[in-house]
Amino acid sequence: MGKAAECGYVVREENEIRRNLAAYLRRQETRDRLRFLAAGSVDDGKSTLIGRLLYDCRAIYEDQLGAVMQAGQLYGTTGGGFDPALLTDGLKAEREQGITIDVAYRYFSTAKRNFIICDAPGHEQYTRNMATGASRCSLAVILIDAANGVRPQTRRHSFICSLLGIRHFIIAVNKMDKVGYGERVFRAIKRDYENFAAKLTVHDISFIPISALKGDNVVDGSANMPWFRGAPLLAALEEISIGSDMNLIDFRLPVQYVLRRNADFRGFAGTVASGVLRRGDEIISLPSGRKTAINSLTVAGEECREAFASQAVVVTTADEIDISRGCMLARPDNLPTVDNFFDANLVWMGTSPGISGKNFILRLSSQTVPAEISRIRYRFEVNSLHRRKAGELMLNDIGRVEITAHRPVCFDCYSRNKPTGSFILIDPSTNGTVAAGMIIASSAETHFDRTAGKDPVSANISWEKSAVTAAARRQLFGHKPVTVWLTGLSGSGKSTLAQALELELTGRGIKAFILDGDNIRHGLNKDLGFSEADRTENIRRVAEVAKLMNSAGLLVIAAFISPFRKDRKHAEQIIGRDKFIEVYVKAGIAVCRQRDPKGLYGKAAAGKITGFTGIDSPYEVPVSPDIELDTEKNRAEDCVAQIMKYLGSLR
Ligand code: ADX
Repeated sequence: MGKAAECGYVVREENEIRRNLAAYLRRQETRDRLRFLAAGSVDDGKSTLIGRLLYDCRAIYEDQLGAVMQAGQLYGTTGGGFDPALLTDGLKAEREQGITIDVAYRYFSTAKRNFIICDAPGHEQYTRNMATGASRCSLAVILIDAANGVRPQTRRHSFICSLLGIRHFIIAVNKMDKVGYGERVFRAIKRDYENFAAKLTVHDISFIPISALKGDNVVDGSANMPWFRGAPLLAALEEISIGSDMNLIDFRLPVQYVLRRNADFRGFAGTVASGVLRRGDEIISLPSGRKTAINSLTVAGEECREAFASQAVVVTTADEIDISRGCMLARPDNLPTVDNFFDANLVWMGTSPGISGKNFILRLSSQTVPAEISRIRYRFEVNSLHRRKAGELMLNDIGRVEITAHRPVCFDCYSRNKPTGSFILIDPSTNGTVAAGMIIASSAETHFDRTAGKDPVSANISWEKSAVTAAARRQLFGHKPVTVWLTGLSGSGKSTLAQALELELTGRGIKAFILDGDNIRHGLNKDLGFSEADRTENIRRVAEVAKLMNSAGLLVIAAFISPFRKDRKHAEQIIGRDKFIEVYVKAGIAVCRQRDPKGLYGKAAAGKITGFTGIDSPYEVPVSPDIELDTEKNRAEDCVAQIMKYLGSLR
């Protein structure tokens, strides 16, 4: 038996089991558990390290051990000695024969903690498996071969772990025996890794020089490296303070099923994603926003007073409000975001590339919604963490994207709440999962806007209220002041329709005025070009002007390409949902090109202008416009009549 097998805690634990089995089992149940990811290529000694931990902690059956001892004589890489890698490699070979290379989970315990090791395959082609394994871990042990130093895979694994929200890293510099247990080698690797890790969002990183094969600094300290004063790996794993990896603050219950046992019973079943729920609590159902209270709460068939994250529950409510599968229950004073748009980091798992505009099914907690990638902001160069412009995401790529769901979804940021901040995309044609995503923020929070979320520059300003009320003004003007927002490609007919509509409205005595893209860019917005950021600012300023004009009582007709959904959404927020009428002026790019009223498509084709919408800059079609006008099929007067009809229906 190896020296570490006799180490103190194992013996103590065995004695305790003998003395009082019941007490031992009770303690096991309540003891804290650390789930950690072991990352590293095969060559870095991952199998050896895991084998060593399992062996030294006696998590290996006698017969497995016997087989390994025998195999060690036959095939061992250690000259007939005990080779811990064989403990894990036996299982690995089995896995590799199968079609899926998945994450293997291994369990062991010490007197202080229970451990679950997620052993994820190291190769780049298995990024997705690694992402799956890492998403539930609180700590990553990243192996580096002392002879090779920090390698691309080291950086790749570290980056994925940090993206997946792992906040504690232990860098195990392995095979120190091969470099003469030299402190300088260890220090150089540490420095190298720290330079890279400065760009990660991980702040707790510790370094341990080990030899998994010889057992140095794994379970016991090492007489070979007296210069290292830190704890061996196992002690570090036992001592590290992780806190709860559960969010017990933000109550979220995604409704999975509605149970109707009889005419009087309507229960809502689901797994509490986060937070705590008590009988009598006031709750809100999203997206409807209806409120009620929790009447009863059942966990595993038993009535309880409270339930918390990760428990499967059935709740009943005090009032009969409409709650169905896909709804999310939360507390009225602590809501998730409800939006169609969000920014996310995406790990692409599909064999066909991820491109914007293609339809997918978004699955986020119990919600299933058609969605698309509306923009690929960039792809990460995983080794350098540089951001690269990308038109598509290939298998195993990681990118930052904007997602547009075709209906609003409830979500949180992944960093705050993993269960409600992560999602998958499914290809509807194959039913296969093509991407796993982590939400960064709702797009409204992240998109470039010089004013978003900001207070005015000066704190010394107040709001002067007019003595003439909006109602008085409306009576004076005789109509509701709204903004008819025309969006569409250049040449789709926005300006033509705007002019015809203005004529029609003023002919009927309605005070209407056009804000037109080209005109506004002659004055107020003459400092703006056609970059994404400038277009965003263009739309923001226009929306502010439209809002002022609406406040003055005027009906505004805004004719802007406004190619980005989030900008139109932002305009709607500025102007007000009740006053904003989104009109999609629809015409295919081929027809617009042919019409080419300003000769700009010709210039774009000749390369004289760049960033032209529809050619080398995107146009995001409205998801659910208030009015859609097809100018290829309908005459201008019919389109105007359609808008007039809509306006006539407004109260
Ligand atoms: S938006 O994208 O910011 O909404 P806006 O509607 O104000 O655009 O202005 C579009 C007008 O600017 C077009 O009708 C066209 O006449 C002109 N223009 C010049 N360069 C471009 C370009 N690169 N992309 C789009 N429009 C352009």
